[in-house]
Amino acid sequence: MSVLLVEDDMSIAIVITAALEAEGFEVVRCDSIAERDRLLGQQRFSALVTDVMLTDGDGIATIDRVRAVDPDLPIIILSAQNTLDTAVRATDTGAFEYFPKPFDIDDLARTVRQAVGSNAAKSGAEEEGPPAGLPLVGRSAPMQAVYRMITRVLRNDLTVLVLGESGTGKELVAEAIHQLGQRRDGPFVAVNTAAIPGELIESELFGHEKGAFTGAVARHVGKFEQANGGTLFLDEIGDMPMQAQTRLLRALQSGSIRRVGGRDEIKVDVRIIAATNRDLQPMIAAGTFREDLFYRLNVVPITLPPLRERADDIPALARHFLALAAQEGLPRRQLSENAAALLSRQPWRGNVRELRNFIYRLALLSREDVVDAASLAPLLADVPRSEGGAEGEGLDAAVHSWLASNSPAVGTVYDAALAAFERPLFEAVLRETHGNQLRAAQVLGINRNTLRKRLSELGIAPGELVR
Ligand SMILES: Nc1ncnc2c1ncn2[C@@H]1O[C@H](COP(=O)(O)OP(=O)(O)OP(=O)(O)O)[C@@H](O)[C@H]1O
Ligand SMILES: [Mg+2]
Repeated sequence: MSVLLVEDDMSIAIVITAALEAEGFEVVRCDSIAERDRLLGQQRFSALVTDVMLTDGDGIATIDRVRAVDPDLPIIILSAQNTLDTAVRATDTGAFEYFPKPFDIDDLARTVRQAVGSNAAKSGAEEEGPPAGLPLVGRSAPMQAVYRMITRVLRNDLTVLVLGESGTGKELVAEAIHQLGQRRDGPFVAVNTAAIPGELIESELFGHEKGAFTGAVARHVGKFEQANGGTLFLDEIGDMPMQAQTRLLRALQSGSIRRVGGRDEIKVDVRIIAATNRDLQPMIAAGTFREDLFYRLNVVPITLPPLRERADDIPALARHFLALAAQEGLPRRQLSENAAALLSRQPWRGNVRELRNFIYRLALLSREDVVDAASLAPLLADVPRSEGGAEGEGLDAAVHSWLASNSPAVGTVYDAALAAFERPLFEAVLRETHGNQLRAAQVLGINRNTLRKRLSELGIAPGELVR
């Protein structure tokens, strides 16, 4: 049994050869696509192990030529180009396995043995390749694990549970699974179960018949039915009320739903992707999350790493967001190496979302086209760092002490509080924009005339804020 190894990195090739020979294979090595094709024409192999980036071409893009010679040859792809794009392209070819570098050499040898044993190579080429412009950025080892999991669920309808802290990209992963998977031509319907009042959640998910409850003036088709033929994304699943959990479980078990107030069981064909930033185990223990629902959803868990555990990805993400910001009409900026390094050292408690928002502000506020560490540092210093977690905790305390010390008159509390909040907010943003009201309005996301009006009402003179 001989294995054809296409690898131009001599040191890797030697290690792989030794490991495969130890498994009892004869290894024929070459370092180019042309050489690969010549060898395939001469001799039959039991498996092909190939690198992607070779001097004379791309090991994945030219895989059809291998298939033409030997449609059933198991193919194992190795790549240092560890993007989701490569992972997906590799799996799309029907490759037996895809190994991002660096990989465990024993794992590879075992896989080659399995591939040859099961002769499992499915004739691939189901499609022309993945859609361009994949949304996920980052090549760190923890993200590799995520990409691998994503590619494993693209060709099936297994239920996926996406876990991870807030802002780590859970929704993006759900969208990627839908867009790259076999249901991409169907609808992608997202429901944020935390945002719907408890009493409406069942009607949102399953729909209702006219007259089912007060206010149900017309029949309503729920999210399950809307998602028929596609993917239903159940976001913030950990915040779903108990009663809705029970109905959800029943729908998942039966593959059909019943509208609120309706009698008919309606078959639905949906793939479920759920997500939460909560730790479900303690909730199960406390009886606030159904254990049986957890097992139904947790078929394939995909856990997104917090950004602080993949600081290597921060420069790439930052540059990605600068490019997006430019596409959206903000000034085009670049990051110097030392600026990227400085960003990588920040804690980013709000994960990718916080980084993204910061980069957009940077694009807007920076005075240079190439941002270096020196001009980045003051902006970073302004990033609010809430101590001890929960967003808004500082404001919470501030509201309490403000109420206590000001005790505004009944009937004026709201306006007084709003003014008290707006003043430091507007002043902080105006200082950041060096008194530029147009930019301040953009940063705040409010109309510039609204801002101007409020400033004059509050008696804030932007010019005086510029140091
Ligand atoms: N790997 C990534 N590459 C590029 N952009 C990313 C990545 N991860 C997250 N983002 C971006 O970061 C932002 C937050 O991501 P997303 O909304 O998916 O987070 P989430 O995990 O669903 O957060 P939450 O729990 O708060 O809902 C989005 O703008 C998303 O596009
Ligand atoms: Mg989300």
